[in-house]
Amino acid sequence: MELTMKQYLTTPIYYASGSPHLGHAYTTFVADCYKRYYRVRGHDVILTSGTDEHGQKIERTAQQCGQPIDSFINKRSNEFRHLWQKLDIELDVFERTTAASHKDLVIDLWQRIADNGDIYKSHYEGLYCVDCEQYFTAGDDCPVHRKPLENFSEQSYFFCLSRYQQKLIDHIEANPDFIVPESRRNEVLSFLKNNELHDLSISRTSTRWGVEVPGDSDHVIYVWLDALAAYLSALGPLGSVKFEQYWPNTTHFIGKDILLFHAVYWPAFLWSAGLDLPRRLVVNGWLTVEGRKISKSDPDTIVDPLSLIDSISSDGLKYYFLKTVRLGQDLDFQQSHLVELLNADLANNVGNLFSRFVKLFAKHFPQGLTQDPLKLSAANNELRLAVGGKADAFEQAIENYEVSLAARIFIDTAGLINASIQQSEPWKIDDKFELSEYLWTLHHCLADLTILGASFVPELIEKARTSLNLGKNATWQDLGCNSSEVSVGSIDALFPRI
Ligand code: MSP
Repeated sequence: MELTMKQYLTTPIYYASGSPHLGHAYTTFVADCYKRYYRVRGHDVILTSGTDEHGQKIERTAQQCGQPIDSFINKRSNEFRHLWQKLDIELDVFERTTAASHKDLVIDLWQRIADNGDIYKSHYEGLYCVDCEQYFTAGDDCPVHRKPLENFSEQSYFFCLSRYQQKLIDHIEANPDFIVPESRRNEVLSFLKNNELHDLSISRTSTRWGVEVPGDSDHVIYVWLDALAAYLSALGPLGSVKFEQYWPNTTHFIGKDILLFHAVYWPAFLWSAGLDLPRRLVVNGWLTVEGRKISKSDPDTIVDPLSLIDSISSDGLKYYFLKTVRLGQDLDFQQSHLVELLNADLANNVGNLFSRFVKLFAKHFPQGLTQDPLKLSAANNELRLAVGGKADAFEQAIENYEVSLAARIFIDTAGLINASIQQSEPWKIDDKFELSEYLWTLHHCLADLTILGASFVPELIEKARTSLNLGKNATWQDLGCNSSEVSVGSIDALFPRI
């Protein structure tokens, strides 16, 4: 665990050309899980998301929909914002690339790169995919969108990306956890070692919808340079106190589709502008439907998260994807599996555990009970330690970005406590002292369990903590140190069966 107390986390800035879908939600769940984990650890965390609103792709889509571009992007951007609220995502900043403060930052960034001698004007001719907003060197169709590539020929400003090839390789080799998981790191390294980096076209004359190049109003700044800069502008102007405090400890959560932009272009832009690199890129795989990536360009694959919230709940969605997807790998989405897993893990295992315990406790000790932790029997101590040991494993998993493993450890811990109850049959214990000691131990174990679960099922955990008469926010320091006096309140179903 790093000592630093400031953490800056980001999701991608999603394109405002379409409505949000489950794929966008998944990356956001991962970022939200880390925001909550770091907060439990006592860190000071900022989580940023937002919308990417410039470029030809957005301009064309608005035209195709027959809508003025401003109202088109406002509507889409609001859809994202609304979804994150409904999904209980703890965003601190929602950055829009059309905001005036963002445009100022893009110009500042451009100027710094230009001052460093890394921008020159030339002519570009090549194949372009508007959906990717990216040039391709060969091929008829875009490999991602499977649409014909368009021939573009334009005057353009270029960024001297080729200068940074060796520096990129050195940085990735010297910082093994700059890109996680390792398979993605290897992919970038092999790309950099086996391909010659060409200078990058960073302006367009084919659209007016963007930030003008300083001093040349015929050109707008390439939408990816514009979009990446949103990570900076979300912290305020370069050099501001907030920026200086948070930027050095940045983690970008992204999908594998945008790895090249983040692992190659972005570090080179930042170096050129004299800025630090983010600490880490955490790369997720794709959610697919019948093997096809969920994507707005493939309408049959679209799953609207809003349509699932009422029946599944935001906790249910978060938990399902965080537990089921091994971070970095793809997952084919099946709703029947989702229902099965949530009923087993959250309704039966965790939910029943808390309600069974709270009801039993309230029946025998409605006024609460007191126990000297130092005078606990060996068997009760053993249970306490077993649960404490799970917290160490949980910490290791989450720090290693093994999110699915961390979720499994949480559920196994609930399973372990359940098994103890099953074996001890406290409802049959006649001795009041023995029962009191055991229920105190269980209270203690469940308090620890809430600390692990807070990153995955925050609403459920908040309710559980209220029922255990604990403070609303779980903190890591409270692990293993329940107070000698404990009590419970009332309890409703924490996770009703779906
Ligand atoms: N606007 C750019 C990102 C700029 S960041 C400076 C963009 N936007 S996007 O709307 O296309 O979102 C891409 C991201 O959404 C992916 O990198 C990933 O995080 C998430 N996902 C979109 N579809 C996804 C799946 N089907 N599965 C998992 N994640 C997916 O690219």
